[in-house]
Amino acid sequence: MIPILKVPMSDEATAAVGKVLASGMVGQGPVVDEFEAALAERVGNPRVATVNSATSGLHLALHMVAGTEPEGGPGGQPGEVLTTPLTMVATNWAILANRVRLRWVDVDPGTLNVDLDDLARKISPATRAIVIVHFTGYPVDLARLSGILDEAERRFGFRPMVIEDCAHAWGARYRGEPLGNHGNVSVFSFQAVKHLTCGDGGLMVLPDDELHRRAKLLRWFGIDREAKGRGLVRDDVAEWGFKFHMNDINAAIGLANLDHADEVVRRHQDNAAFFDRELAGVPGLELTERAEDRTSSFWVYPVKVDDMAGFMARMKEAGITAGPVQERNDRHSCVRQYAALLPGMDEVSERLVCLPVGWWVTEQDRQHIVDTVKAGW
Ligand SMILES: Cc1ncc(COP(=O)(O)O)c(C=O)c1O
Repeated sequence: MIPILKVPMSDEATAAVGKVLASGMVGQGPVVDEFEAALAERVGNPRVATVNSATSGLHLALHMVAGTEPEGGPGGQPGEVLTTPLTMVATNWAILANRVRLRWVDVDPGTLNVDLDDLARKISPATRAIVIVHFTGYPVDLARLSGILDEAERRFGFRPMVIEDCAHAWGARYRGEPLGNHGNVSVFSFQAVKHLTCGDGGLMVLPDDELHRRAKLLRWFGIDREAKGRGLVRDDVAEWGFKFHMNDINAAIGLANLDHADEVVRRHQDNAAFFDRELAGVPGLELTERAEDRTSSFWVYPVKVDDMAGFMARMKEAGITAGPVQERNDRHSCVRQYAALLPGMDEVSERLVCLPVGWWVTEQDRQHIVDTVKAGW
């Protein structure tokens, strides 16, 4: 079977981990510092903070910008976070974990990202934050989103913070810039099957020095590890925090993979360009949007098909793993109270299938995928 996802582990990772294990220091230490310096350079933004997963990063981001006490947020008003249902549940359970209400925004069937018209309609004085997902690595139109926030600021006198879930989007660019440079909190995942893996890990990129300072403190109990004595517990904790930091073992894996990550992303993109050429115009199958100002990282290759069950069965028979990969989050019992009419999501969930497009897909594999897709029509 051609898998839909695979772990991109470099040969150097084993020795790098061995070195850390033998060093006597396996917690957050010099290797995390080195990894963060390298990540800051890649992203082009010095305000980075590694964490032990994107889930932790999203939890911490929401805690910092939208977290409320159970009785309500600022002014006693219960706040809400606007979010997309088309993502891994990690995105949305991080909102629930912060005890803030969630409000679904519909999905744009053209991009599979949040529907920005619906988002603009749903911003209100209760909006504490907006979570967007660059689904499959295709960037949300961040300039248009910024314009919507300008308008919200004019109407309501405040600008809700945007949290970008970049879990699929290492290597993606918006208007030529890597994600993490557009004035929002951005959270990347370095989980096992992402373009860049630490085994497990994540990265927060912060838009200002104050949020950066808080993220670095709150990822480790609120204790300042950089202060003299490296985080002695006798230091006063002004704001309590979590245990979300990355350790040197995971950082060593990430560093060993970092130099290969550009090539990994390039191979995803090269296979995607082949599919774009070969699958355009195939009846019964629709490609998603490609805007000129956006470069997708193509974590997987999404298509919309008329006969989803038949398509997936044909793929399976031909030894190709294909499926939605991530399913709508809004139908689970634990979010029943937030149910909303989402026609875009309905359309997508009946048609979305993702094809393998990653670095492991050879020229022969991708031709086999195209031939199998075309043979069905
Ligand atoms: C869109 C999205 N957000 C968040 C996560 C959570 O990432 P992590 O496993 O690093 O916590 C994932 C994981 O696949 C994801 O796909």
